[in-house]
Amino acid sequence: MNNAPRVINSRAGLDSVLDSLDSEVMRAVVPTMGALHEGHATLIRRAREHVGPAGFVVVTVFVNPTQFAANEDFDRYPRTLQSDVDLCGEHGADVVFAPAIDEMYPTGPTQITVDPGPLGHVLEGAVRPAHFQGVLTVVNKLFNLTRAQFGFFGEKDYQQLVLIRQMASDLSMGVDVIGVPTVREPEGLAMSSRNRYLDPAAREKAELVPQGMQAGISVAATGGSGDDVMSHVQTFFAERHIDVDYVVVTNPELGPAPESGEGRLIVAVRVGSVRLLDNCPIHLGVRS
Ligand code: PAF
Repeated sequence: MNNAPRVINSRAGLDSVLDSLDSEVMRAVVPTMGALHEGHATLIRRAREHVGPAGFVVVTVFVNPTQFAANEDFDRYPRTLQSDVDLCGEHGADVVFAPAIDEMYPTGPTQITVDPGPLGHVLEGAVRPAHFQGVLTVVNKLFNLTRAQFGFFGEKDYQQLVLIRQMASDLSMGVDVIGVPTVREPEGLAMSSRNRYLDPAAREKAELVPQGMQAGISVAATGGSGDDVMSHVQTFFAERHIDVDYVVVTNPELGPAPESGEGRLIVAVRVGSVRLLDNCPIHLGVRS
């Protein structure tokens, strides 16, 4: 598929397209901050498959200032709108909604925000205290503005996915939040818009992240507990001089790891000035 999507910058423009749709047309949104890559392309294709050829797929491209702290990379976050629009067209989006900051926050940051609750203050939330409040608030606005029935998000940012799903459910938003498995480079590195910050030496080190997770999976496969997996993965990174922010094993909803059954291995490390997040499903205990 390769149809140039409509690029819309204003809420009024988006409203008039949405008003023109028949009420039975299924509507999906793929929220992004741009700098799109194959991971996003997969989300767009999944959205298109889900709503069908007659459905409506909007990709939002908005680098949301309220989810960045003052010391973070908001200013240097890659902005590549024309190639993003091309990618959206190649993978079946109808519309790219790319508002300016004033369009999203006409009176400045919202006075009412979405509180992410206790899960928003652990893992990434402990390292980036206001991050998930900013993410949930903007995703809530994007769901409203796009009148979405389905929202597609990558599992790469696993805590974000869990929180958005919880928000949609707790606040009865009527949006079905669909998680899509992480897309990886051939060497296993999870695709991320921030990978472009990695120089060749850092990239080589970053490729050890999926290897560390694989080492954890092997420990679980031989009967190791969640604690065994965590300490093994931490040692794997320490021996390779990779700074760890956290390595945890949880259940799929980010609660305590089960003794046996499905869990999630979640890691955040620093390679030079770049933080890398990754995660994977992990089976604990002997399979019956
Ligand atoms: O994952 C992202 O790109 C962002 O956090 C999101 C969901 C688009 C909100 O700004």
